[in-house]
Amino acid sequence: MNKEWTVGSLIPGREATRLQPKQPNRSAEEKKLPAPMIEWKQKERSCSVPVTSGVTLLDAALRQGCTIDYKCRKGTCGRCAVEVMSGETFLSSKNEAERKKLGAAPRRLACQAVIREK
Ligand code: FES
Repeated sequence: MNKEWTVGSLIPGREATRLQPKQPNRSAEEKKLPAPMIEWKQKERSCSVPVTSGVTLLDAALRQGCTIDYKCRKGTCGRCAVEVMSGETFLSSKNEAERKKLGAAPRRLACQAVIREK
């Protein structure tokens, strides 16, 4: 006789319940969400950079190997102006140099916009 023993199989009138193997706990690594990104566009070029706290958007772009136009790195020439497509909440508020150069335009100066954690 080939009998499979299950919980309840020995109790008369009770439906047998198969023992389910415990699901292994997923490690914290597996549960990790994808890293948040900031996507920007300058002229016809676009690029995404990971959220790295304390780094300017320009430096993050250069680290990422993105092609980005820039010159002074001081917020005066305006050549690094980008349109942020997503992830703007990870950027510092506009500073004085950005407000002076861009006014209320929805663009940012990549050399002045500092990435921060939410
Ligand atoms: S590089 Fe000149 S304003 Fe950013």
